[in-house]
Amino acid sequence: MSNTCKIVLVGDSGAGKTCIISRFVNDRFDKGQMTTACPSFCTKEINYPKYKKTINLDIWDTAGQEIYRSISKLFYKGAAIGILVYDISNQKSFESIKEYWYKELKENTEDNTSFMLVGNKADLFEQEQVKEEEAKEYANSINADFYLTSAKNNIRITDLFVQCGKKFIDPNSNDKNNEDNDDNEGKGNKNFIINSGENKTKNSCC
Ligand code: GTP
Repeated sequence: MSNTCKIVLVGDSGAGKTCIISRFVNDRFDKGQMTTACPSFCTKEINYPKYKKTINLDIWDTAGQEIYRSISKLFYKGAAIGILVYDISNQKSFESIKEYWYKELKENTEDNTSFMLVGNKADLFEQEQVKEEEAKEYANSINADFYLTSAKNNIRITDLFVQCGKKFIDPNSNDKNNEDNDDNEGKGNKNFIINSGENKTKNSCC
């Protein structure tokens, strides 16, 4: 088995894909993030002592804007994990996942590609338009793991990517009874180590 796990993030423009990646890779949140035109990827290494495995996550950021969609499509191939990102304060971004993004990934990836549904901007709970229950139900219907995240407040971002690596190692893994999440930090039972070495970031085209 290869130790490189290709992950692609898709979803409407403004859902927060670039900010989610930037939070995980650089622990940074950029309020004025420019829209993505050209897909790019970052690499991050995670070690899972429990599985005796080190996995390179190749995380691909794609463009949500309609004019760039045909370019992004070229980069879905070979993805082990597809992350479908919507904004919890924007109903339309959730409808787009159901009507467009899921089908788009499903049609352009392998049969064994795993999916994660991510409701981002959890910090904007007062402006919530997409009910958590509705999103969870949809996630179940497409056999995806579900995460509510905030790139801004760093909520469940690490969990999300750690789970991606785990799913790559063990496709049947889900995060119910997850022993590896952020909550365990500092309790001495951490089951993953994120390499803090230099991260590679590459623009791929354009
Ligand atoms: P495209 O590149 O156009 O496809 O958009 P994107 O999905 O990559 O969104 P991006 O990461 O550029 O974020 C869009 C806007 O949402 C930016 O102004 C971010 O600052 C903001 N944003 C991203 N994540 C969060 C979050 O968790 N909470 C809040 N409040 N704002 C966020």
